[in-house]
Amino acid sequence: MDEKITWWERFEHGSLYVALLAAWIAMAGSLYFSEVAGYIPCKLCWYQRILMYPLAGVLAVGLLRRDRHLPVLVLPFSLLGQGVSTYHYLLQKTTLFSEAATCEIGVPCTTMWINWFGFVTIPFLALVAFTIITACCLIALNAGLPDEEMTTATPWVPVVAIPVAVVLAFVLLARVNAQGHEEALAAPAAIAAPAAFPTLIPTRADGPVEPARADIAVVTQGEGLYREACAACHGQDARGVANLGPSLVDSAVILEGEAQAAVAFIRKGVALDDPANTTGLVMPPSGGRPDLSDQQLLAIVEYLRARAVVP
Ligand code: HEC
Repeated sequence: MDEKITWWERFEHGSLYVALLAAWIAMAGSLYFSEVAGYIPCKLCWYQRILMYPLAGVLAVGLLRRDRHLPVLVLPFSLLGQGVSTYHYLLQKTTLFSEAATCEIGVPCTTMWINWFGFVTIPFLALVAFTIITACCLIALNAGLPDEEMTTATPWVPVVAIPVAVVLAFVLLARVNAQGHEEALAAPAAIAAPAAFPTLIPTRADGPVEPARADIAVVTQGEGLYREACAACHGQDARGVANLGPSLVDSAVILEGEAQAAVAFIRKGVALDDPANTTGLVMPPSGGRPDLSDQQLLAIVEYLRARAVVP
């Protein structure tokens, strides 16, 4: 018999273990992003979690019980999940849908917490996992899971080994992250950072301070962009939102020094383990909108500066 066919046949009957692995990695990965890295899940993230997390358990129990209907039970979840992830990804990366219509409260669904290689965002990762699970279910369904094949196997070995391996990897990564956090906090140089700013904030008490410093057109552009990209976390009035983002009307980053430095700050964001982090919350790089240009971020900074001096 041909070697390749044997390999494929084996894969056909083991494909649901691949689905189990994908579900566990997806669940652990999403918990890592929210619980370890501190990224706040948006509404659409929660829908994807609702569809993904049960699969970690359903696939394990179904494999243990050698349930022949398992692919049919899993498919509705994975197909729906693919739909939600695709919608979420298109919302982030295109203008096909009206701006963040489903997510007006809390973190905007357009926020990209990660943007690896310029295209890998969290819903992209979820889409990959849901697609792997769907494909594995279709392969298993097609193979028909013959009884002898399934009964001679010892399903509990991989069903136990896969979750244990994923959980161990999660704990290891979380520990490495916590260590990095502690080291960053222990670095004494970081504490001195705020003192480096000159104390030259023009305050309202000093009287009206050149309100027309920035071009009105730029400020108006900045206002629109601010509402779209930053207001959900920093407030419509830029006075902050509890547990999402601090006030920007009195922010030294915005008001002091060069506007370009503020743009660089926003571009970089503030990770949880950044020694400069003051809130214990994460500010995503570019406010979660890597598509915004330097000029657009500059317009936002000009808007925030203008509104800080004009009551
Ligand atoms: C998902 C929520 C979120 C979004 C969206 C967001 N921010 Fe933030 N931002 C934060 C958090 C949280 C902090 C505080 C981080 C820390 O502890 O230092 C912060 C901090 C800042 C600071 C520093 C404030 C200070 O004085 O310490 C600036 C400036 C800022 N954000 C600008 C922006 C701009 C401009 C946008 C839009 C392009 C934006 N943010 C979008 C959450 C967000």
